Amino acid sequence: MPTTTETAPAKINLALHVRHRRADGYHELETLFAFAEHGDAVTVRTADADSFAIIGPFAAALRPAAGGTDAAPWDGNLVTAAADAFVATFGIAAHHAITLDKRLPIASGIGGGSADAAATLRALARLHGVAVQDPALHDIAARLGADVPACLVNRTTFGTGRGDTLVELDGLAGTPLLCVNPGVAVSTAAVFGAWDGIDRGPLGEGPLLERAIAGRNDLEAPACAIAPEIARVRALLDAAPGVLLARMSGSGATCFALFDSIAARYSAATDAAAQGWWTLACALR
Ligand code: C5P
Repeated sequence: MPTTTETAPAKINLALHVRHRRADGYHELETLFAFAEHGDAVTVRTADADSFAIIGPFAAALRPAAGGTDAAPWDGNLVTAAADAFVATFGIAAHHAITLDKRLPIASGIGGGSADAAATLRALARLHGVAVQDPALHDIAARLGADVPACLVNRTTFGTGRGDTLVELDGLAGTPLLCVNPGVAVSTAAVFGAWDGIDRGPLGEGPLLERAIAGRNDLEAPACAIAPEIARVRALLDAAPGVLLARMSGSGATCFALFDSIAARYSAATDAAAQGWWTLACALR
């Protein structure tokens, strides 16, 4: 049976400006999306019946205690919701066995479920000869969640609207990146709900790094109010030698830093790990 594996790279918001709350409850954003070299992985193979399994370091956070097996219920995950939408949209008769290798912490501001759903769509598209640029694929992604279209593109982009109107940008590929999570899951809806409603202005123009440095993450203050550990992570990254930019990603709690050298990233990663925090050290893709 044909099999394909897609990585679901961690999503980083280099900057995230919240402009206003919309009538539909979502918030109008301006954000710079970038992606890490590493993340989760989704393997899809055609099969006689649908099945879903979750493996990897953060599998237990997602699937009920399953008596030693990796099997997870088909319903209730963004991965299987993506598969259901793909099959319905493109009239696919096949069933699929899907395995999610969960390497990123859940509810952590670096895409996670959104990246997994997008990787599932890319894998199914490859398996069934659908172009990844197919507008119907983008529509499915936008229905699954605000960040899923950006994760589908999987490249540095400027996002407006809910974060799902996208313009591709020249990125910072190869820049040393460190992500640090203090081990606390934060609800995206709760953080947006705690935003103070003050529009602090649009993102400026300019080359990507300068533009990101001049920007902000407007969700950092409400996220820190919910999870004060975030401020400690930020302080460690801010003080690290060789740091180009340190900030919280998305609705947190993961913070990231870009470095001017691999040695500087290594040193900061060692200090963060010594605090008992989860770290991901790689580069921007
Ligand atoms: O679209 P998604 O399910 O990923 O969004 C999760 C929650 O984050 C939404 O229910 C909403 O509360 C909040 N959100 C928002 N504005 C956005 C994106 C997300 O308010 N642009």
